Amino acid sequence: MKQILIAGNWKSNKTEDETKEWLEQWSQSFSTFHGKNEHITIVICAPTTVLHVLKEGVKTRDLPIRVGAQNVSAFADGAFTGEVSARMVKELADWVIIGHSERRTYQRETNEDLSAKVANAKNVGLRVIYCVPDSTEVIPHAVDVVAYEPIWAIGTGKTDTPENANSVCAEIKKKTGISSVIYGGSINATNVKQFISMNAIDGVLPGGASLDPQVFFRLVTAAGSTH
Ligand code: PGA
Repeated sequence: MKQILIAGNWKSNKTEDETKEWLEQWSQSFSTFHGKNEHITIVICAPTTVLHVLKEGVKTRDLPIRVGAQNVSAFADGAFTGEVSARMVKELADWVIIGHSERRTYQRETNEDLSAKVANAKNVGLRVIYCVPDSTEVIPHAVDVVAYEPIWAIGTGKTDTPENANSVCAEIKKKTGISSVIYGGSINATNVKQFISMNAIDGVLPGGASLDPQVFFRLVTAAGSTH
C-alpha cells in the first residue's frame, strides 16, 4: 500500500479555543474509526499562535496527527523584529509549508527568500512541504515533499483533472528526483480518492476542507480507503 500524506492547511484561521474545539471533535470522530491508517501521515499546518495548543492537544489525546507550521523566517535568530525563526518553530512543529502561493503573492516572497527558508528549516530538522504552481518552478533540492498547487484551483472549488495533476507530479519527480509529490487545490472528501489513486500523486494539501474537523475526518477516511 502506498504511503499517503494528508497535510491540512488552516491558513490564517483559528484561535486557541477554536483549535481546542477542533481537536475535541476530531478525537470524537477518530474514536469511531476502525479502518487502517498506518499508511497515512496526517499533518495539520496551523497558525504560529496555536501551534502549542495543537501540539499539546495531540499529545494528551494521543492522536495520529503531526504538527506543521505555515512559515519560517528566512533569517536565523537575532534582530529581526516580528520574525519567527526555524529554531523556534521546531520547538512546536515537525513540518512546515514553504512557498505557498498566498505568501508568494501577498508577502512577495521570492525564490531567494524561499531557498533561505528551506535552508533554515532543514538546518533544524523540520520536514519541508514546498509548494509550486507548476512543474517549471525552481525547487530547492533539500525539500522533503513538493506540493503541486495550480493557483486557479486554490479556494475556488475547481480542481485540476486527476490525470493532468498526475502528469505534473510525475514531471516534478523526474526533474527533481524528489520522491514525494502531492496535489493541492480544492480537495475535498468527495474528490480526494480520484487524486490519491493516481500513481504519481502521494497525497493532498487541503485548505478549506481541513477547517471543519468532521469534513476533514471524512476526507481522511475516503483517502484511507483508496488502494
Ligand atoms: P483549498 O486550499 O483546498 O482551500 O483550495 C489549498 C491550499 O491553498 O493549500
